[in-house]
Amino acid sequence: MGKKIKAGALISGGGTNLQAIIDSCAQDKIDAKIVFTGSDTPGVKGLERAERAGIDTFVVDYRTIIQQVKNDPDGVVLPGDFDMEEIRAKQNLLPESAGNEKIERFLTSRAIAERALLDRILPYDVDLLILAGFMRTLTPYFIDRINTGHRKIMNIHPALLPAFPGTDGYGDTFRYGCKVGGCTVHFIDYGEDTGPILGQKAFQIEENDTLEIVKKKGLALEWELFPECIQRFAEERGQA
Ligand code: GAR
Repeated sequence: MGKKIKAGALISGGGTNLQAIIDSCAQDKIDAKIVFTGSDTPGVKGLERAERAGIDTFVVDYRTIIQQVKNDPDGVVLPGDFDMEEIRAKQNLLPESAGNEKIERFLTSRAIAERALLDRILPYDVDLLILAGFMRTLTPYFIDRINTGHRKIMNIHPALLPAFPGTDGYGDTFRYGCKVGGCTVHFIDYGEDTGPILGQKAFQIEENDTLEIVKKKGLALEWELFPECIQRFAEERGQA
């Protein structure tokens, strides 16, 4: 085994991918240690999994922040280092056609949530940030403050990108009538599910498969693929 990288994880839900990674670390299958797990939603099962493994946890409650910005847009205090023009020009999450008000409200609520995330994450000085079922997009404001020197934010997506980006990869794959489904691990960039692909695994969708079966087949592959990609990253960092 090589030198261990320090990794942090962000989640939104059950955390079965997080569990697979925690187990791979504990069994020394990968050269990594998870030092924190953050969630955008309070009370999710993934937080319990992290706590059980002795990992620091925190919550940045996106729903509450978004609601506060909606209720009192004029009362918002943006982070001192947030430049709306710069982030707006870089971001590729909302098209210009979404309109000024929508784009600026989106970036305002994300600036506040992402500053809160950064305040929790940066002190750990991690080599890698893992998005393990984190159901929020991240803006260039956050990405640029994590990706210092090289790409460090790795996401798992439940489809064979570039097909079916978005929040329901297996559902979209199934409803389209695909005969093959899969999962993708990629670095994130300024768009939604558009960054460089690090690994993919595929499975057959049989005639009688239900959406539940498709999800089950896909998740089982995610639990293999994510640790494999983290290990490859750790090996490459070890050589740097
Ligand atoms: C996984 O299927 C993951 O690929 C997906 O959420 C699920 C989380 O499951 N992620 C996304 O859709 C990201 N856009 P888990 O909480 O049990 O790991």
